Amino acid sequence: MSITLYGARILKDLTNQELRVLNMVETLLKKGEYAPVEKITTYSGYTEKEVSYIVSKLNKKKLLRRWTGQFVGYTLTFAGFDALALNSLYNKKIVAGVGRAKGVGKESDIYYAIDFEENEIMLKINRTGRASFQQVKKRRDLLKGKFHYSVFSLAELSSKREYEVLMKLQESKLPIPKMLGRNRHIIAMNVIEGIELVKVQNLKKPLKILEKIIEYGKILYNKYNIVHADLTEYNILYDENKDSIAIIDFPQAITTDHPDADLILERDFSHLFDYFGKKWFISPEVEDVVEYIVGKK
Ligand SMILES: Nc1ncnc2c1ncn2[C@@H]1O[C@H](COP(=O)(O)OP(=O)(O)O)[C@@H](O)[C@H]1O
Ligand SMILES: [Mg+2]
Repeated sequence: MSITLYGARILKDLTNQELRVLNMVETLLKKGEYAPVEKITTYSGYTEKEVSYIVSKLNKKKLLRRWTGQFVGYTLTFAGFDALALNSLYNKKIVAGVGRAKGVGKESDIYYAIDFEENEIMLKINRTGRASFQQVKKRRDLLKGKFHYSVFSLAELSSKREYEVLMKLQESKLPIPKMLGRNRHIIAMNVIEGIELVKVQNLKKPLKILEKIIEYGKILYNKYNIVHADLTEYNILYDENKDSIAIIDFPQAITTDHPDADLILERDFSHLFDYFGKKWFISPEVEDVVEYIVGKK
């Protein structure tokens, strides 16, 4: 793993012209599989020679990927997409710099960053579709015509959904991440102290913690009409110093008008009770808890 995010490191070396062309490629990719050099030239107002110099630079920097067929075109790489998002977050004065990785997961990468007042903040970079993207990359034949901007759209959509759910909850007293801003597939938020519940070896009062989770689940459901839908021991952070928890990771949250909302709520808690049963020897009846959360109808 690199010391920091490649897209962030490389951003410092990009000229305005390179950034402009990178942006243009992204825009063109929304309309087609590749951004033809010809079109980049037309839209940018740069000469053909300038464009070919800039795109070859961006290609070398691994922000664009070159494709040659009936015409020469370019696609974005994840690093290119990261650079675009970070550049926007920088211009909006949300993120001043990116630091070390906190974790690289299946669906997202988490990085420490700093804001313009030098506070430490956290970036959640959505990677939905990355696995399939890499599959595609390995098979050049598939690359011809099948891959386009959709992989980035998916990551952005997932990030947007998470941001919107969490924005709705910002004024609640629920212990959730504070939203600082978002661009494309990157959310900037505050750093929550603590470690994932699954890694906790000592819980003084596991029952008290479980009761808290149930209370938060009830508030989410009743006051905000939300079911988390991935409420696991991985998405609950425990702060030993304060003996408190926080709930994170909301891209898959659903609203209670979803036809399966109550089933999904039950699934969340039955999974969680399995964990509490095995690790802390507490196993409430899931039906009772769901009834408590939903309220008798
Ligand atoms: N705001 C935050 N503060 C501290 N740690 C965080 C924060 N957001 C995420 N993390 C850490 O990164 C991990 C992955 O984040 P999460 O939102 O669960 O994404 P995913 O599980 O989809 O990759 C979490 O389990 C947690 O350890
Ligand atoms: Mg998670």
